[in-house]
Amino acid sequence: MKILGINSSPRGRNSRTLTLVEAVLDGAKERGAETELVDLRALDIQYCLGCQVCYAEGECVLDDDLSEVWEKMMDADGIVLGSPVYINGVTAQLKTMVDRLADAIHCQMLVGKYGCAVTTAGSSGISEVLSYMNYFLNQLGAVTVGEAGAAIGRDPAAINAAITKAFNLGQTLADAIQTERHYAEQESAIAERGAFFRQLVKANKEAWRHQYEFWMEKGWM
Ligand SMILES: Cc1cc2nc3c(=O)[nH]c(=O)nc-3n(C[C@H](O)[C@H](O)[C@H](O)COP(=O)(O)O)c2cc1C
Repeated sequence: MKILGINSSPRGRNSRTLTLVEAVLDGAKERGAETELVDLRALDIQYCLGCQVCYAEGECVLDDDLSEVWEKMMDADGIVLGSPVYINGVTAQLKTMVDRLADAIHCQMLVGKYGCAVTTAGSSGISEVLSYMNYFLNQLGAVTVGEAGAAIGRDPAAINAAITKAFNLGQTLADAIQTERHYAEQESAIAERGAFFRQLVKANKEAWRHQYEFWMEKGWM
C-alpha cells in the first residue's frame, strides 16, 4: 500500500501544513503503508495553456515536472493533499497542478483510490480549502476519508490537536485502503459525475480522441 503526500506551501521545511501532511503519512506508516512526500514548490510546474492537446493526445505540450507528480499519484493507493489557506483558497502552487489535470478528471483516472486533505490558516477559510481539496480528489474519481486543519494565528498551539487528528486520519486512510471501505454517498456522486463525463467525452469524440479511446479501453463507454 502506497500513500503519497503532496504539500503545496511555498515555505518548504518551515511549512506548518507540512507538519500535518507528515503526521498523516506517519499515521499511515504506522498501519504498514509505504509513504512518499512531494514538495510542489521544489518542482517546475507551469500553468495550463488551455490548448486541450491532452484531450486529443493524452500528453501535455509542456515538458516539466507535472508528469512525474502525476505518475506518483497514479502509482499511489492513497493521496494526501496539503495547502495552507491563501486568501480563502489553495496556494497557487496547488491550483497550478490542479489545472493541469483536467484530462485526468474527464477520464476519471483516480477511480478506486482514496485520499484526504489537510490545511493550516491564520484564522479563516479552513473549511473552504479542505472542501476544495477533497472535492478535487472526488472529481478525479477518488473517495476521501476525512480532513484536518488548524487556525494558528492567535493560538500557535492549536497545531498540536490538528497533528493528532492528522495522525489518526492517516490511520483511517490506510485502513480504508486495506479494507476497500465504501463511502456510499461519495461513490454515488462520483458515479453521477462519471456519467456526465461519459456523455461529454462521447459528444466530443472526434476532438477528444484520447479521452474517447481511454473510456472505450476501460470498457466504461
Ligand atoms: C499570501 C498569504 C495569504 C494568506 N491568506 C490567508 C487567509 O485568507 N486566511 C487565513 O486565515 N490565513 C491566511 N494566511 C496565513 C496562512 O494560511 C498561515 O500562515 C498558514 O499556516 C501558512 O501555512 P504554511 O506554514 O504551511 O505555509 C495567508 C498567508 C499568506 C502568505
